[in-house]
Amino acid sequence: MTTTPTFTPDHLVARANFADPYPVYRALRDQSPVHYVSIPAGASGLAAPVRAWGLLKYDDVYGALRDHETFSSESPMAGQFGPRMVLLQDDPPRHTRFRRLVNKVFTLKRVEALEPWITSIAQALLDEISDGTTDMVESYTVPLPVKVIARLLGIPGEDYATFKRWSDAFLSTVSAERDERLQNIQAMVAYFGQMAAARRAHGADDLITALVEAEIEGESLQDWEILGFCILLLIAGNETTTNLLGNLFNILVEQPELWQQLRENRGLVEPVIEETLRYESPVQRLFRTVTRDVEVSGVKIAPGERITIFYGAANRDPSAFPEPEEFRLDRDLRNHVAFGMGIHYCLGAPLARAEARISLNAFLDRFSTLKRGESPAVRQTDSPIVLGFSQLPLLLKPS
Ligand code: HEM
Repeated sequence: MTTTPTFTPDHLVARANFADPYPVYRALRDQSPVHYVSIPAGASGLAAPVRAWGLLKYDDVYGALRDHETFSSESPMAGQFGPRMVLLQDDPPRHTRFRRLVNKVFTLKRVEALEPWITSIAQALLDEISDGTTDMVESYTVPLPVKVIARLLGIPGEDYATFKRWSDAFLSTVSAERDERLQNIQAMVAYFGQMAAARRAHGADDLITALVEAEIEGESLQDWEILGFCILLLIAGNETTTNLLGNLFNILVEQPELWQQLRENRGLVEPVIEETLRYESPVQRLFRTVTRDVEVSGVKIAPGERITIFYGAANRDPSAFPEPEEFRLDRDLRNHVAFGMGIHYCLGAPLARAEARISLNAFLDRFSTLKRGESPAVRQTDSPIVLGFSQLPLLLKPS
């Protein structure tokens, strides 16, 4: 006899469920779309436990993301762990001004101009996988996004390893490494600060120069804002893209027939990437703070209370995506929330999509089959925020 496990809201933030949170989402959403969750200290870099209302239903998540006046991104804890994050943790009018300036710089044209370079990085990384056996995470999904962001920012090739170390330091929440982490963060802050000043003196063909020069109606960005934005790109753009790529290749290794379909019809590349974003959302949840009395699915929430938005649960809500546990290519995916929604909609979405499209095409060109390698794939289990793999061994058979 099989028994259905019973879940409590604590299971939403329990480490044991990070690798496969979907049964918990499903069971709890069936009980009630909103749950009061106690998030332990240590999780997501928190110094003290936080209590928050967890939103699991698509309509509630969508509604909260669209209503930035009621659901504020300004965190009462911002600034505790390094500088407050510009943009991501700003509300209007600060957010509006900043976003307008960076939108002017972080354009589709700039992403398109990067594409030949993304292709050459992808090819160079693939050349290194000579015998067809590889841990995809180490050899491909980690280095690609880091190199792309370094290039975008104009960081010279020889500084790449240092850049990677800083990026890791910022993302690591392990307190034992706190001193080293702080030293790395300070070094990064100094580097970007100097770079902004140098680009102000002599421009180059890179994003930092464009940020220095951006101006709308007499408004421009200060050096500290440019520095904050560079750090945000590291945080928002690296691990997320690594996880999208890992999730994508894991799905493909589980569905060999889909790999063959893709080889015959490249028109499926984009739908496969979009369905991967819905099915295995790299960002599973983030916070908001309520600014006024509000009711969500019948639950009254008071000003000052915290909300945690489960993007990953909304993307598996059957009321928005029928048979959500199935990976399907015939869905209307225009409104999935893997990149958020509303004013904070992911600035890097076109770049992440381009990296995934270029990667998948490059692998399809080179390899006729994709199989799981000998050592087991390891789901990342140390983060309640992002979902992906820390190890993904593959056997790739050349065409
Ligand atoms: C698959 C990869 C990615 C995923 C799943 C993702 C996801 C997200 C999500 C969910 C948000 C909204 C956060 C909120 O609602 O508060 C966001 C915002 C943001 N993302 Fe991404 N992201 C990805 C890649 C990138 C890349 C490559 C970059 C830049 C190079 C980037 C830069 C940003 C920035 C700057 C914001 C803040 C926008 C704002 O607050 O106005 N992201 N991302």
